[in-house]
Amino acid sequence: MDTCTSHIKAPIDATTTDAWKKLQKHFDELQSRGIDLRSWFQDDPQRVEKYSYEVNDLHFDLSKNLIDDTTKQLLCELAQELGIEQRRDDMFSGKHLNTTEDRAVLHTALRRPVDEVGSLIVDGQDCVKDVRHELDRMYAFADRVRLGQWKGVTGKRIETVVSIGIGGSDLGPVMVYEALKPYAQKGLSVRYVSNIDPNDIAEKTKDLDPETTLVIIVSKTFTTLETMTNAREARTWLLEGLQKQGAIDTSDAKRAEAIAKHFVAVSTNLELVAQFGINPENAFGFWNWVGGRYSVDAAVGLSLIIAFGPVVFEEFLKGFHDMDTYFCKTPLEDNVVFLMGLCNIWYVNFFGAQSHAVLPYNQYLHRFPAYLQQLTMESNGKSTRWDASPVTTKTGEIFWGEAGTNGQHAFYQLIHQGTNLIPADFIGFVNTKHPTKDDQQDVHELFLGNFLAQTKALAFGKTADEVRAEGTAEWMVPARMFSGNRPTTSIFGVELNAHTLGELIALYEHITFVEGSVWGLDSYDQWGVELGKQLAKQITPAFHDDEALAAQDASTQALIKFYRKHRK
Ligand code: F6P
Repeated sequence: MDTCTSHIKAPIDATTTDAWKKLQKHFDELQSRGIDLRSWFQDDPQRVEKYSYEVNDLHFDLSKNLIDDTTKQLLCELAQELGIEQRRDDMFSGKHLNTTEDRAVLHTALRRPVDEVGSLIVDGQDCVKDVRHELDRMYAFADRVRLGQWKGVTGKRIETVVSIGIGGSDLGPVMVYEALKPYAQKGLSVRYVSNIDPNDIAEKTKDLDPETTLVIIVSKTFTTLETMTNAREARTWLLEGLQKQGAIDTSDAKRAEAIAKHFVAVSTNLELVAQFGINPENAFGFWNWVGGRYSVDAAVGLSLIIAFGPVVFEEFLKGFHDMDTYFCKTPLEDNVVFLMGLCNIWYVNFFGAQSHAVLPYNQYLHRFPAYLQQLTMESNGKSTRWDASPVTTKTGEIFWGEAGTNGQHAFYQLIHQGTNLIPADFIGFVNTKHPTKDDQQDVHELFLGNFLAQTKALAFGKTADEVRAEGTAEWMVPARMFSGNRPTTSIFGVELNAHTLGELIALYEHITFVEGSVWGLDSYDQWGVELGKQLAKQITPAFHDDEALAAQDASTQALIKFYRKHRK
């Protein structure tokens, strides 16, 4: 076994830096003085201006965070001492930041315009040109589907796309499909199947006509258990359906033709794609330097190109690229991407925050928190650093959230009055796709009023005197007080469209990078998902095999015995 890590430069331990020590001292001072956003706002009329940032059509307000000028300066010093700007540049230029897999981390090359960089040769490969080539193939294919030129085996045009994938091969496309639904071509819809639970594919296909259905199998490795199981299920469903309808006979040639007309694939493993029976001409590739959770803007987004068309997808890519450019070109202390990532470090490592809420005030973004969970938690949920040495501090907060006012009637209680500090990002948009006035008011304004009210309540709270002034009985005053000083960042966009969505995704990709860099993590591997996969393979036979059952631990055995007893 190779035990030598000398080729990998060990990360600097953030906790040993001068900036970290100063941050600790500063934190202790703030704690003893007492953090009070009300007085910080009163004492500093420039506070909002100072902590507001514009990135294209997005406005960021960080003023309601628990930071002052010293905090900001020290956080920036921390990033400087750790060399994170250099690390960013290394990432963009294709250095092997993914140390445990010895790979470049180049999702940013997926959206780099060819004319801007010319070529980007990494490991002997011209990444940007390869990306463009694959995009052009996908655009041509998508156009054929959209125009009805791509026909199923019986000559009918495609009406429904079923995209089968999981994790990074599913969460991004689902989220974007939901977010940009108003831009989808009429008469063409996409359904996403991910769970290996047979209920998922059964429900998604039960009312579909195989003659008008196109299945996209999306899997970077083309070996993932869930995806390959669902892909086989889909193949059976399609062939049996076509045969039952009398649309095809049972000859091998006709079955192969049906698969070729109704199945396409997205993968880095084109050999296995061909083995599945998919014509390599209908397979779209991407590369090992794109992590699954960073791949929605690669071929993994094929279903999106079909639904929205190349023009919208190009806008989407431009949004990413604009945020990349901002991240690379803006000085650290004015760079909201860095500052958001560094604020998260401040909350996790100094305030002890364990989670971070992302609360989009836009129903179309209802899958955004789920998407972010994989992006952030698969990236930074780690206990070893990029040289496999143990981490020296807490890492990887839990990201979670819910769209719009739904959360207000569910979990906001805990954010307002609970004992845990939960930093939250609120995301809203000035304009809506569905402006509505009822007899009382503009409903979108009412919605946005809620967004602003929540961030105000969290920041400034409600004092005992304010509660008393409402005539509340004295004994109940503490229960009705709001401490305030609960940090939020407000992101306000002009409208939700492909461009803004690309910007938002790139924003969180880079926030994840900043946090991972402070902690010294390889944010681009995911070894923590392997053990469960291996054990599932060992355990599954135990449902019917006594020898396999006997090999399990006592708890697993008891659960399987319960299953055996009650299985109908
Ligand atoms: O389970 C982890 C994971 O490897 C993710 O990182 C990835 O996005 C997902 O599985 C799907 O992998 P694939 O695209 O290879 O099917």
